[in-house]
Amino acid sequence: MVCYCVRDPTDGKDYVMKDCWVPEAKRYHEVAVLKQVHGIPNVVQLVDDWDVMYDGEPDCTARIRDRYQQFDPDDRDDHRFCNRFHRQLVMTPCGEPLSHFSSRKELICAFCDFVVAHRLMVECGILHGDLSLNNFIIYEGNSYFIDFDYARFIEEGKTSTISFGTGTIPYISMRVLKKMLRNAETVKKTADATQLQQIEHYMCDDLESMFYIFFEFVTKYGGAHGIVAPTWDKLAMPWLEAYENLGASSLLTTFLSKKGAIYEGDFLMDRVSDYFSEFKPLVNEWRSQIHLTEIDTNATIIHDHIFQMLAMFIAKLEDSDEIPIPIPLPYPPPQSPTVQPTAGPSTLPRTGTTWSSTS
Ligand SMILES: Nc1ncnc2c1ncn2[C@@H]1O[C@H](COP(=O)(O)OP(=O)(O)O)[C@@H](O)[C@H]1O
Ligand SMILES: [Mg+2]
Repeated sequence: MVCYCVRDPTDGKDYVMKDCWVPEAKRYHEVAVLKQVHGIPNVVQLVDDWDVMYDGEPDCTARIRDRYQQFDPDDRDDHRFCNRFHRQLVMTPCGEPLSHFSSRKELICAFCDFVVAHRLMVECGILHGDLSLNNFIIYEGNSYFIDFDYARFIEEGKTSTISFGTGTIPYISMRVLKKMLRNAETVKKTADATQLQQIEHYMCDDLESMFYIFFEFVTKYGGAHGIVAPTWDKLAMPWLEAYENLGASSLLTTFLSKKGAIYEGDFLMDRVSDYFSEFKPLVNEWRSQIHLTEIDTNATIIHDHIFQMLAMFIAKLEDSDEIPIPIPLPYPPPQSPTVQPTAGPSTLPRTGTTWSSTS
């Protein structure tokens, strides 16, 4: 998967183009989800999508594989092969990583907006299910959810979705991690994938993920526009360290380190950067809400709890005198596009900015 920043030569407007190879069973999944959430503020919007064509047919890995199999006929019975289709999605806005926030207030308002947008998506029957630092962007002071690859449709009358566990491990809720851990142990013991338990994913799991993301921001960043705090150390977030270094035992260690941190209020507050020190009470309040759901099985976190907490905090926050993000100069209309798209109905040229997949 690669994302390009592409520009419409007629008005100079930028879009993002996601170029991906999608499993056949999920060929139109992200598009279907994006259509369902279309119009919700703070959610990236789909503009266009298409199959990339090859010799008049939608391109896919089976076509490439068939050509290789002429030389390797023994490879034909690989049942694990999953055919993937080459797709391109054009979306707006094309922003920057959320770490480019221009002030503390802008960042905390972004989280407040995320809570509202997440609630609206749930009301539309969509659970994002893969919240991570890299799945948010910021554009002209507004923040957006992106990446609906792992989003799921909530069935009528249900409050959760079912999977075998999705998400980016350092941000997955403790409840989902625990179930993923059980499944990993089952497979290790029995080598039988049919014994895997399905895992329900609730909106409170996404809201817990949001806390870990928020905590990473207030620990890692020591200023606006992506300045990393001199005090930042990955050990401040042991669940991140566990995920990156421990391989097979990462699920267990990630789970246990989160659990420990949620029970020990001081642990988290002590790791907040100087720049965000005003946010310590908020870190502690959000942590204690999660802690409450750990000790009382009837307790749950809903959007309104988090929204109220953030809104009250924002109301008390002093207006900061931080340097606003520089306003980009107006883009001169190009004489002629440098690169023409090779597929699909759009006439958007690429400008060559790429990001590789981070999850
Ligand atoms: N609208 C956008 N604006 C800016 N960057 C984007 C946008 N959409 C995607 N990206 C960049 O591309 C990366 C990968 O896109 P994403 O949709 O998250 O795919 P993946 O499923 O591979 O994680 C993101 O983490 C982000 O850096
Ligand atoms: Mg992503």
